[in-house]
Amino acid sequence: MNRLVVVSNRVPTATAGAPAGGLAVALDGLMEKRGGLWFGWSGAVAASSGGICVRHDGGVDYATIDLTQDEHDRYYNNFANGVLWPLLHTMPELMQFDRRDARVYREVNARMAGALLPLLRPTDLVWVHDYHLLPLAAALRARGVSNPIGFFLHVPFASADVLAAAPEVGALVRDMLAADLLGFQTENDLANFAAAAELFAEARRLPGNALEVGHRRVRLGVFPVEIDPHGFADLASAMARSPEAMRLRRSLHGQHLILGVERLDPTKGLLQRLGGLRALFEQSPKWLRRATMLQIAATSRKDVASYRALRDSLDREAGKLNADLAEADWQPLRFVSRAVNRALVAGYLRHARVGLVTPLRDGMNLVAKEFVAAQDPTDPGVLVLSRFAGAAQQLTGALTINPHDAHEMADALDRALAMPLAERCERWQACWAAIENRSPLVWGRSFVAALLRATTISAVPDLPLRANDQAKPPTIGTDMVLVEPRHLPIMLPDVVNLN
Ligand code: F6P
Repeated sequence: MNRLVVVSNRVPTATAGAPAGGLAVALDGLMEKRGGLWFGWSGAVAASSGGICVRHDGGVDYATIDLTQDEHDRYYNNFANGVLWPLLHTMPELMQFDRRDARVYREVNARMAGALLPLLRPTDLVWVHDYHLLPLAAALRARGVSNPIGFFLHVPFASADVLAAAPEVGALVRDMLAADLLGFQTENDLANFAAAAELFAEARRLPGNALEVGHRRVRLGVFPVEIDPHGFADLASAMARSPEAMRLRRSLHGQHLILGVERLDPTKGLLQRLGGLRALFEQSPKWLRRATMLQIAATSRKDVASYRALRDSLDREAGKLNADLAEADWQPLRFVSRAVNRALVAGYLRHARVGLVTPLRDGMNLVAKEFVAAQDPTDPGVLVLSRFAGAAQQLTGALTINPHDAHEMADALDRALAMPLAERCERWQACWAAIENRSPLVWGRSFVAALLRATTISAVPDLPLRANDQAKPPTIGTDMVLVEPRHLPIMLPDVVNLN
């Protein structure tokens, strides 16, 4: 089996374990099962850029580098999270562009490519993740790496006219095209990327989700990130009986729980959500004292100005909501900004009557899928979900809403809180059916299989992959060679696991 080399900004560390968030959930299981090399940032900031630290755990080698303070500020805080994150989430008004940050972002990517180079073997499959590393494939190619390279974007890809707001982005789109396969969460993200590639890189669309760029062909694909639904369901059912979860349940005194869980992030629509909650109690006062909301919004990226500003606004709004509506022995909102561990969140989700997941824009949103998996199938809660979350494409049993419309959110909350058991079960079944046979492992394997296909027989779109399909460079039409002849030896196990 070809060794898998995953490259991501965050890497699980010996002390802190897996980092929070969707990327870790998606990759942890795959790497545990398959083994390989996981390369990226150690999570530490050091006085000077030192060497690589390698740690072996299970079947995985974790190789990490530290960032200097300047790199952390400019690459991670200012450019990745201060420019690319808002831009890709179609919130360009939050972006603070500075050319020096863009330069350091590129330098860190180049340094990562240089550090990874000596660790690579000729038959490795390289899989790069997320917006921190958009130019990494190009930086590897510039150093002579001819291995198959796949790239997966965990966040949305905005439309080309939004992206044009950051001067650097055209060049980044061109760099992304150095990969052989580019994966996205939804069809919409893929279409936005293809349009940006046409605009910024003079790429030409080919049938079957491919782009022709110069004499090369780059494949595009949609690979929605998944959770382990059965594992999460078991966890939720066990943790719902934990002392902490039982304490939450007792504190409700029979009221319905509306639950929101995320990082405190401008894309999550937290202020709008408080507006929706206020509208619920104002429009439908029957829920006063009969429902309450717990919002867990774990503090995140607090060195980025827009995150600090959001925290201040949320503190103000949450305080005002409670001050306006609370009574001596009841309050509409409990607001927690401490991170709560994932197992306990699973238990809380099972006790919730409503899962309120209303991002203004989100690549996928795994909390939406976790809410579904955590429910008791005989008495499930209802998911109220933003139509701008990638998960809305799959979870068709949810009540989908526009997160900018407080009244629509309030109507959906009212409907969810009052929903009869039969309809709750029917909606939950539809959501469960969309996730029950999927897993991070299946997701990862399908990406790896597509990467192998893209680099071995990439000019023949739907031909089934065979072990000996390595022979000659593929062509389209009569004599136009569309891919570089990078034909690595394929080891069969990857090929047969095409699920
Ligand atoms: O794709 C977005 C992501 O990388 C997720 O894995 C996670 O939700 C989050 O961002 C982590 O952010 P950070 O690494 O900045 O803490």
